Amino acid sequence: MPWKNISWESPSNIAVIKYWGKYGNQLPMNPSLSMTLSNSVTRLHLYYRPAQRKPSFAFRFAGKEKPEFGQRIRDYLKRLETELPFLPGLDIRIDTENTFPHSAGIASSASSMSALALALADLERMFRPKNPEEEFLPGASRLARLASGSACRSVYPGWVEWGYDPAVQGSSDEYAVPLNHRVHPRYQTLFDAVLIVDPGRKKISSSAGHLAMNTHPFRDARIEQARENMGNLLKSLQRNHRKSFRTITESEALTLHALMMSARSGFSLLHPRTLLIMEKIRQKREQNGWDMCFTLDAGPNVHLLYPEHERAQVKAFIHDELAGFCEEGQWIDDVTGRGPVKLA
Ligand code: PMV
Repeated sequence: MPWKNISWESPSNIAVIKYWGKYGNQLPMNPSLSMTLSNSVTRLHLYYRPAQRKPSFAFRFAGKEKPEFGQRIRDYLKRLETELPFLPGLDIRIDTENTFPHSAGIASSASSMSALALALADLERMFRPKNPEEEFLPGASRLARLASGSACRSVYPGWVEWGYDPAVQGSSDEYAVPLNHRVHPRYQTLFDAVLIVDPGRKKISSSAGHLAMNTHPFRDARIEQARENMGNLLKSLQRNHRKSFRTITESEALTLHALMMSARSGFSLLHPRTLLIMEKIRQKREQNGWDMCFTLDAGPNVHLLYPEHERAQVKAFIHDELAGFCEEGQWIDDVTGRGPVKLA
């Protein structure tokens, strides 16, 4: 039997309201809000055919077998067998590659798992063609969530919310919803310079970080704060309130890391150069009245967010004053994106 193929390209995203802590089956403890990126993407090719004898599975990343990641995907597919009952009857081969350097310290699970979930949702569409079209993206987002929480936001372009919030119509803990239409045009194009402070693997996985929230002394206060920040940040994005956007975004980034440090078995993923870069950004902003601000993911790299009209000056600032704090001067030039694309 010949192999058939489904291919998707899906981007990474950067959260401004952070998902940190979960319950039940990968459901978020608090709502989160992110911006889908353009240039940090995964391309995934899923090949399938009716199983010849015993169903087979193979996984390759950038042309090479990656047993650890392959096992994670195999476990995920196993967990989905009840709701996607056609899976155990297939031979499956998955080939993926990232456009960003593998060792850049960029969280690749959002792009890779959303690409895989989109391919699976496509496959489901072939086996169960009756599902209405408007359920495709919510369904793909839900499948992505089951692989990696933050991946569920990558199935939509621009600004995306995940987690039930009374202020966001249609929001759910199960899947993400697109919010770009509610955002002021100025925020519909926002640049993200990802400053690579340390490209190494994280010392502590985000799964361990989420788990630590279950017994965190500030757990309830954090849930309350995230809800309040969400309401205020949405207002800032709609009304183009730049100062409050910057204040909440930076506070969310610092809170994420403060939560790690103040967990019962506290840990830190920050690097001394992360602190230097954040300080430089704040100083430069104060001196020049610029609009840029920073956020952080669960790692030491700094995401410098800035509007289009500051592009030339921010690039010069990175070149002259920040690249020296980056690993081999590396940074990734990214911007709000159009969302996933079906390649085949
Ligand atoms: O998707 P996970 O389980 O890797 O969690 C990542 C959570 C953060 O990236 C730290 C924040 C977020 O909302 O993306």
